[in-house]
Amino acid sequence: MQRAIDHIKKTLEGLYPDGEINAFSYLIINHLRGYSKGEMIINRDKLFSTDEQQRVYDITQMLARYEPIQYILGETIFYGLPFAVSIGVLIPRFETEELVDLIISENRNSAQLKIIDFGTGSGCIAVSLKKNLPDSQVWACDLSEKALGIASKNAMSNNCDVHFFLYDILGTDMPDPSGFDILVSNPPYVTLKEKALMPENVLNHEPYEALFVPDNDPLLFYRAILEKSETLLKAGGRVYFEINEAYGQEMLALMESFGFDSLIITDINGKVRIAKGRK
Ligand SMILES: C[S@@+](CC[C@H](N)C(=O)[O-])C[C@H]1O[C@@H](n2cnc3c(N)ncnc32)[C@H](O)[C@@H]1O
Repeated sequence: MQRAIDHIKKTLEGLYPDGEINAFSYLIINHLRGYSKGEMIINRDKLFSTDEQQRVYDITQMLARYEPIQYILGETIFYGLPFAVSIGVLIPRFETEELVDLIISENRNSAQLKIIDFGTGSGCIAVSLKKNLPDSQVWACDLSEKALGIASKNAMSNNCDVHFFLYDILGTDMPDPSGFDILVSNPPYVTLKEKALMPENVLNHEPYEALFVPDNDPLLFYRAILEKSETLLKAGGRVYFEINEAYGQEMLALMESFGFDSLIITDINGKVRIAKGRK
């Protein structure tokens, strides 16, 4: 096993920061053997089978081509829960955990909430909300059938009952039913002019339609969801959005134009990241 770790480090040296290479080594060994970090140290002299050695070489080659580790291993952790991911489905981001955490902490004591997640992707928001607010009923939609397939698998593997359905946020038909207490979304919000600043591994591997919005209408998904909120949301209901840090003030104005008392919240890195509102 130590030789496998040395191989990973030598091959990826200079391509990624040292800390990230160490994290990859742990994720690969954990994926192959299920070892914790402590067990990795204790078992460093354990022999790897030929198959395991080959898998280490293959994974390292894919990392050297900047393929995301989550797609290579087909899994990631979000809000402490395991999620399957595959090409065509956005890899859940650490920042989105803060959105989930806020919703859970503000609604922990409310009984039987009805929640809908727009643009669910891997299902990370919907499944972690259902897991942590178990009395709630959770609906979640996406335009991508592939995403819905993965999201359903993730709900099942986490023993959660979430109602997934195919739906176009920008379309005119309405999701059924109504009477929701909470609308949540992390929709596409990166403008095309910001694309040039994004790392190659995101641009080359992650789904375009999950990320980008036109420069001339960066809030189109939020506007479409807020329009639908007029029918879907109960009086006193709440909306929670992950947003582009460049559009905090515009989001506040948009939400207030739909009659929401609104607030913008910064994330752990001090970046504007969440918009929330109450009707
Ligand atoms: C930024 S990703 C967020 C995925 C997931 N909720 C997360 O936080 O990791 C946006 C999601 O919106 C979906 N999407 C894009 N356009 C859509 C549309 N018109 N209607 C419904 N979903 C859409 C994408 O397929 C993608 O899964």
